Amino acid sequence: MKQDLYREFKRLFDKNAVNAYFSPGRVNLIGEHIDYNGGLVMPCAITFGTYILVAANNENVFRFRSLNFDEKLDIPVQRSYSKTGETWYNYPLGIIDHFLKENIELSGLDLLFYGDIPISSGLSSSASIEVATAFLLNDFFDLGYSKLNLVKFSKKVENEFIGVNCGIMDQFAVAFGEKDKALMLNCDTLEYQAVDSNLGEYCLAIINTNKPRKLAESKYNERVQECQQALKALQQELDILNLCDIDEHVFNQHKHLISDPVVLKRATHVVQENDRVKLAAIALAASNLSGFGQLMYASHDSLKNLYEVSGIELDTIAEYGKTNADVAGARMTGAGFGGCGIALVKESGFENFKQGMIDYYTAKIGYAPSVYQSAIGDGVGILKELENSDI
Ligand code: GLA
Repeated sequence: MKQDLYREFKRLFDKNAVNAYFSPGRVNLIGEHIDYNGGLVMPCAITFGTYILVAANNENVFRFRSLNFDEKLDIPVQRSYSKTGETWYNYPLGIIDHFLKENIELSGLDLLFYGDIPISSGLSSSASIEVATAFLLNDFFDLGYSKLNLVKFSKKVENEFIGVNCGIMDQFAVAFGEKDKALMLNCDTLEYQAVDSNLGEYCLAIINTNKPRKLAESKYNERVQECQQALKALQQELDILNLCDIDEHVFNQHKHLISDPVVLKRATHVVQENDRVKLAAIALAASNLSGFGQLMYASHDSLKNLYEVSGIELDTIAEYGKTNADVAGARMTGAGFGGCGIALVKESGFENFKQGMIDYYTAKIGYAPSVYQSAIGDGVGILKELENSDI
């Protein structure tokens, strides 16, 4: 595939690519919908991701091409850009716009994108393309921004240019991910630890519902807003900046301040999920995979019943997990509303799990999911330069 990318670049732009970059997608092991509440999350980078090949041009134009989408864009270098429609190139365009707003001088580029993250699968293809583009611009024009700055820029672009009020987890995970490590990230302080993912006899399975996500963005923003409402209510008595500044014990003493029952359910999920991540970290450190798995199931139930971001497809994935003795735990991962589930599965039982999941899911949902054994990979980086490349 990578070989094809270089060939395709040459064909499209009639020159060789000068550099190539890769940024992964991510899964989140536990800690869902709490990054934008200052919570603790545990994502890992995966080995699927976004590739970008680049060369400068002298025509002062940005040319965007993709192997995944037919839409392409040629746009002169100018002072700013705005989002156009719902096309894929809004993500890199948003990143370019952000650099321009930082008063960075950019010149024309020919860019070819390719992603092998299943589209709309909730594995953060958007954070992946944003961080890949930001990393590329920083490297190609030698701008000297830190990786953390690039993460913050990318989140800002998703919030302001794209219009999704996401937290920082995805952009952080795809930038800082490390092979065979999970990131324990405090989304309030942005302190993190890369911990051994230590799965012992287990492996991580990704199960794509293959259900296109609909309404995901508007529902997502609705949840963010509900959390803000809960925080405001609690702030009448508590001096806190984030919902995750309190544990369940403190929450229970003040939750009467939240009068809307739906908002109360959302806040209950957030506070309990944050507590669960702390327990999950202890379980992982002790190689207690069955304890970790139980927390995954509890997380899923809470996302289903309290946060209401699951759906029959994701519920079926978690439900099947409980029927298979080789599965320690399963849950939805990411924003929800379709997308992917994950499961901790005994490696020796993976093939059996895969077939069992496909059969169970297909019988209930009417079409098959895709099941992968996932490797945990590194974060964003430059691929070897073309001349030295063995690609
Ligand atoms: C999406 C967002 C993240 C996070 C998750 C849910 O992936 O981009 O910031 O909120 O949903 O945990």
